[in-house]
Amino acid sequence: MKVIAHRGFCGEYPENTMISFKKAVEAGCDEIELDVQLTKDNVLVIIHDESIDRVTDGSGNVRDYTFEELRKFNVMATFGDKHGFNPIPSFEEYVSWVKDKNVTTNIELKTGHFYYKELEEKVIDMILAYGIEDKVMFSSFNHLSLSRCKELIPKIECGVLVSKSGIGNQGYYVSKFNFECYHPDIEGLNDDIVEDCKAHNVKLNVWTVNDEAGLKKLYDWGCNGVITDYPGFCKEWLKSQEG
Ligand code: G3P
Ligand code: MG
Repeated sequence: MKVIAHRGFCGEYPENTMISFKKAVEAGCDEIELDVQLTKDNVLVIIHDESIDRVTDGSGNVRDYTFEELRKFNVMATFGDKHGFNPIPSFEEYVSWVKDKNVTTNIELKTGHFYYKELEEKVIDMILAYGIEDKVMFSSFNHLSLSRCKELIPKIECGVLVSKSGIGNQGYYVSKFNFECYHPDIEGLNDDIVEDCKAHNVKLNVWTVNDEAGLKKLYDWGCNGVITDYPGFCKEWLKSQEG
């Protein structure tokens, strides 16, 4: 089972920052999950919320700041200034760092609240510019965004994000739209959905799992990946199962 570091190693470092991504790699993760949005001057940036209020020492919406303005804020969510100054990274900064690392990336397109014009095109252009198209996948709660990505670059896998769905025919749904993966909240996952995904050859990557009980459930279900805030812990647990 693949260990996917949620917003990097966000259990111990400020989410979606370069330190969080670097520490996730040090912890041995297989993949990094991150969230992408667009600034006022059309720079792709990595941040979870549409507003910067929760995670930084500033306030307002990402889309109302230029990149240069945004860089002045510190990502302090959860840890205050314990880890010093950690700005919001641009997607390009991340891509130029990750291109030589032995990890893949789950790029979540945060297109559920605001319409970011051609965000999908911009993300794909960046991926192609750095030649990492074989090391990435997309996910989104906005399934139309995934459709757009599929149209633009069919070979990159897409994961359908859902929150506590609970409905049984999700494997059919995912395969019907020619996507490859299903990304449910563990709270909404059950035997019926797992079976339906298997029947339709759909891979399951499940969030956000930080404890042994959850890990065991995913392991027994034969899931493809666990999306976690604690990649090192998950790696150790998986090793203990194999050894
Ligand atoms: O991709 C898993 C997870 O990141 C989806 O939810 O809200 O943490 O982006 P969220
Ligand atoms: Mg995410």
